Amino acid sequence: MGINIGNQDTADLPKKVKLPGPEISGRSHIEELIAKRRSVRRYTDNKLSESVISRLLWAAQGISSDDGLRTSPSAGALYPLEIHVVIGGGSELEPGIYRYIPEGHALVREIAGDVREKLSKAALFQPMIGSAPVSLVISAVYPRITSKYGSRGLRYAHMEAGHAAQNICLLGVELGIGTCTVGAFDDDEVKRVLKLPSNEEPLYILPLGYV
Ligand SMILES: Cc1cc2nc3c(=O)[nH]c(=O)nc-3n(C[C@H](O)[C@H](O)[C@H](O)COP(=O)(O)O)c2cc1C
Repeated sequence: MGINIGNQDTADLPKKVKLPGPEISGRSHIEELIAKRRSVRRYTDNKLSESVISRLLWAAQGISSDDGLRTSPSAGALYPLEIHVVIGGGSELEPGIYRYIPEGHALVREIAGDVREKLSKAALFQPMIGSAPVSLVISAVYPRITSKYGSRGLRYAHMEAGHAAQNICLLGVELGIGTCTVGAFDDDEVKRVLKLPSNEEPLYILPLGYV
């Protein structure tokens, strides 16, 4: 018997989804991707494949070295960020909220069901969050970094969220996927929708969809 979350039962949730690996032999020039990046707030209904979601997650926080270092820089390599994947109807994955696990490059579904409308409401009704097939939510567990750097660790976590988000934006351009870096939302409401632990704060929402 699983833990009951509202009217859902986690016994129905798959334990772990192992993601396909990244493709690191692309030929795009980085300047071209930088020049083409724009905030995109309207998307087609085309589904995002598991492989595309996998690549975007890897770009943000994937492990890219044998000693566990990640694609985005991190002060002291303490990695305070978490990424949650909000899947609506438009993906190969079942609707729900998944947590990205860099070690093993996998997803764990923590909440079942399509929560996009609730997330859009928490983000001051910004419509692209309700309509995007998938959104990524970048959050920070501040104690992981303030334990070493004190209050300066807060700014480090925010800088790191920027690095991760930019990697998502630029790979998105390469893949034909638009996004918008959304910072305007009610923190407590987003925490409620994602059922985040009290020590984890949402920083960014990135709705994703084909342009
Ligand atoms: C920290 C931050 C927060 C933002 N929050 C929002 C937001 O809540 N909603 C939105 O539509 N755009 C948001 N944006 C996107 C900006 O509006 C956008 O980057 C700006 O208009 C420049 O356009 P461009 O991204 O196409 O170059 C945010 C951007 C940043 C950097």
